[in-house]
Amino acid sequence: MTERNRQILLVETPKGKLGPEHFRLTEAAMPVPKEGEVLARVRYISLDAANRAWMQGATYRSAVEAGSIMAGAAVAEIVASNSPGLAPGDLVFADTGWQDYVALSGKRLVKLPRIEPLTYLLSVYGIAGLTAYFGLLRVGRPAPGETVAVSAAAGSVGSLVGQIAKIKGCRVVGIAGGAEKCAWLTRELGFDAAVDYKAGPLFKTLKDAAPKGIDVYFDNVGGDILEACLFQMNQRGRIACCGAVSQYDGGPQPHGPRGVPGLLVVKRLTMQGFIVMDYDAEREAALADLRSWVEAGQLKVQEDVIEGLENTPRALIGLLAGDNRGKRMVHVS
Ligand SMILES: NC(=O)c1ccc[n+]([C@@H]2O[C@H](COP(=O)([O-])OP(=O)(O)OC[C@H]3O[C@@H](n4cnc5c(N)ncnc54)[C@H](OP(=O)(O)O)[C@@H]3O)[C@@H](O)[C@H]2O)c1
Repeated sequence: MTERNRQILLVETPKGKLGPEHFRLTEAAMPVPKEGEVLARVRYISLDAANRAWMQGATYRSAVEAGSIMAGAAVAEIVASNSPGLAPGDLVFADTGWQDYVALSGKRLVKLPRIEPLTYLLSVYGIAGLTAYFGLLRVGRPAPGETVAVSAAAGSVGSLVGQIAKIKGCRVVGIAGGAEKCAWLTRELGFDAAVDYKAGPLFKTLKDAAPKGIDVYFDNVGGDILEACLFQMNQRGRIACCGAVSQYDGGPQPHGPRGVPGLLVVKRLTMQGFIVMDYDAEREAALADLRSWVEAGQLKVQEDVIEGLENTPRALIGLLAGDNRGKRMVHVS
């Protein structure tokens, strides 16, 4: 066990784009677990677009304040325990923050199975997989033969959404940045079409990619892409609002998408936001489905693992710029 605990602080809340200057690597004394707490060693930190949104203010969780340890979820391993029911060697999922070690209350810890590879606990069997599953199947509710479009399609949530929609017998259109990502979606993941939103205006290319219109749009990005999809939606279509990554990393957005509420009215659209925790009661059933699809080879899991705690800021900055394919995480120990 090291004697010092490396930590990454958010030293300043960014006003514009997030950069390395907003973080600082520092060292602190090893935390000592109190009664009811455990000492946990961080193994893999989950990089999430939402990490950037937390710097803008309170969301579904409180804001990350300047001067504090950068918040983040991770798979961690217990090394000492003062909490009944938790023992050294147990794996847990928790908001550990970006650091080597953390003392956590044992009360709300989610114990994880020790599976191979461990990284799947953050990708397909973690928040990403469950978000894709519930957002698509409970909010989007696609029927076989319908057209499903998904943005940030080559990212961790999006790449799973498209594949689950294929499993459910839908026609799938992915929207992603760059020709390479688009080729990967159609060639490797079995999407029916992919549209590169960086190659030019989306309206025409999206119409060509979804000639029968869109029945379900799984929105990870908001902004102009949401607007383009709104105009292609079919009558009684459903829009699952999962996130708005186009609006996380920068100043305030000037305007919302055109077509709201007019298109919602005339096309009888449903637009529904959700947070993955809303479906906690169905978690085990969802995991069983995801497991069976992975084992049957129907669901390909793409991961993007960066080595070293010190590289976590760079990993998040890169994720916001679209450097990742699939689930990005940092291997700490
Ligand atoms: N509601 C929930 O419970 C829940 C839970 C987890 C995640 N989420 C949401 O799911 C979405 C995906 O998050 P993630 O953590 O899985 O990240 P991710 O999709 O793995 O990575 C983010 C991707 O967003 C794309 N992107 C960045 N800026 C963009 C822009 N201006 N326009 C369009 N695309 C842009 C980039 O891909 P390109 O190369 O394609 O640009 C990048 O790879 C986020 O909106 C997040 O907030 C929601």
